[in-house]
Amino acid sequence: MAVERTLSIIKPDATRRNLTGKINAKFEDGGLRIVAQKRVQLSQAQAEQFYGVHRERPFFKDLVSFMISGPVVLQVLEGENAIARNREIMGATNPANAAEGTIRKEFAESIEANSVHGSDAPETAAQEIAFFFAGIELVG
Ligand code: CMP
Repeated sequence: MAVERTLSIIKPDATRRNLTGKINAKFEDGGLRIVAQKRVQLSQAQAEQFYGVHRERPFFKDLVSFMISGPVVLQVLEGENAIARNREIMGATNPANAAEGTIRKEFAESIEANSVHGSDAPETAAQEIAFFFAGIELVG
């Protein structure tokens, strides 16, 4: 197994409910290190660009509105197999299908307000990290 980095976003439904610390504990307890973190308010243009791959999906407009409805916490998580590990810790996209003990099972409100985003593959992880972080901000 290789040490990887993945992009994580704690979404507005979770920052609104003051859940950043509880979610970070799930990452750390699950063996991942938070090697970069910043709380920001995304602009509409940034959210549209970040989720550009979903532009043609019926939920795109609502997703962008939701992602700019409050602050988000952008993070880089590092660890063995971090991309897959983070997806296990998050649970299924739809909280109705998420396993016990996962972030989405415990905290998500809906498939849209699902508390966290995580990169889905090495290529997207590299792109998503570079979208939000400069190299100098990543201290492993
Ligand atoms: P995320 O991992 O951030 O990637 C795209 C997001 O779109 C997803 O999590 C969900 O929050 C949101 N979304 C809203 N509706 C749907 C849907 N029907 N299928 C998949 N993702 C959806």
